[in-house]
Amino acid sequence: MQAILLREFGGPEQMYLGEAPEPVLKEREVLVKVKAAGVNRADTLQRKGLYPPPPGESEIMGLEVAGEVVALGPGCTRSQVGDKVFGIVSGGGYAELCAIDESLAMPIPEGLEFSQAAGMAEVFLTAHQALFWLCGLEAGEWALIHAGASGVGTAATQLARAAGAKVMVTAGSEAKLAACQALGARVGINYKQQDFVAAAKKATNDAGPAVIIDFIGGDYFQRNLETLALDGRMVMLATIGGGEAEKVNLRLILGKRLKVMGSTLRSRTLAYRAELTADLSQRWLPLFTQGKLRPVIDSVIPWDQAASAHERMEANLNTGKIILAVD
Ligand SMILES: NC(=O)c1ccc[n+]([C@@H]2O[C@H](COP(=O)([O-])OP(=O)(O)OC[C@H]3O[C@@H](n4cnc5c(N)ncnc54)[C@H](OP(=O)(O)O)[C@@H]3O)[C@@H](O)[C@H]2O)c1
Repeated sequence: MQAILLREFGGPEQMYLGEAPEPVLKEREVLVKVKAAGVNRADTLQRKGLYPPPPGESEIMGLEVAGEVVALGPGCTRSQVGDKVFGIVSGGGYAELCAIDESLAMPIPEGLEFSQAAGMAEVFLTAHQALFWLCGLEAGEWALIHAGASGVGTAATQLARAAGAKVMVTAGSEAKLAACQALGARVGINYKQQDFVAAAKKATNDAGPAVIIDFIGGDYFQRNLETLALDGRMVMLATIGGGEAEKVNLRLILGKRLKVMGSTLRSRTLAYRAELTADLSQRWLPLFTQGKLRPVIDSVIPWDQAASAHERMEANLNTGKIILAVD
């Protein structure tokens, strides 16, 4: 089969379309003919050699796909050849054929294209897990979502709002903030021009948001602690802005009874990811069919131009998901 491969770890120019062995299906896996694959930040780290796949998983980049089931592995009970599915994988998405555990494969909601479905799984699973499983966001509460125009940010904004919560976001440009507000964010904070701590406090009559979804880390850590409300919850999903925090006032955690968490989806057990997939499917997929939720697709790029897809993401140019069209 054809796949996007790496000459060696490094920049986007190291990626090329080449030949790779087809996946060998394990117990309860199905083989998907990939029509589209989502691009994730993690792929750019893997490309640089900074984020190796878990042991035993495909070395090929790509954490989510949409396509058609073309073969069933041993022990499959719920899938059929011809099913149109999307879902997360632990690797191997940038390929013509990809193996996915059938418990992670969701039916593509009616009316959605492969190129849209390929941008749904990673960001909506991550957002659902962060907001509801980890932070216990309730209707009426405020959530601050950093990198609001990112793939995960656009998903989190929509889910939080659909759950009756109030959303504020940070982003680095007015165009990105306008896109976030169109998705339901009540407050947009341009972090390049405004202090998000002061802006978030102002929007909440000084109380601060109950929940923060953070991808930035670094000096945001202390500022997030300052921003959170009493009994606030925060989950860290990435450290785009730096993996170390210099000056942290731990008394804020005690005094405000804060819960500070971190998570990575890829390292979770299959059973956890399957339960999360089932919960997302049951709670939110009907709203995609009704058009009340939608994947925000920044761009669809032919997969032989995968390098330009990575360049676009690394230049922070995207609002929502970048998709590779595979054919
Ligand atoms: N832990 C998990 O389970 C999990 C799962 C999925 C994704 N993630 C991580 O979550 C993050 C978001 O993923 P994604 O694919 O949705 O990202 P994305 O679409 O690539 O967006 C990331 C955005 O972050 C903003 N940003 C970059 N550097 C920044 C900085 N120094 N300070 C403030 N903002 C900055 C940029 O927007 P602006 O122009 O607004 O600055 C950028 O577009 C990634 O780091 C990804 O690896 C984690």
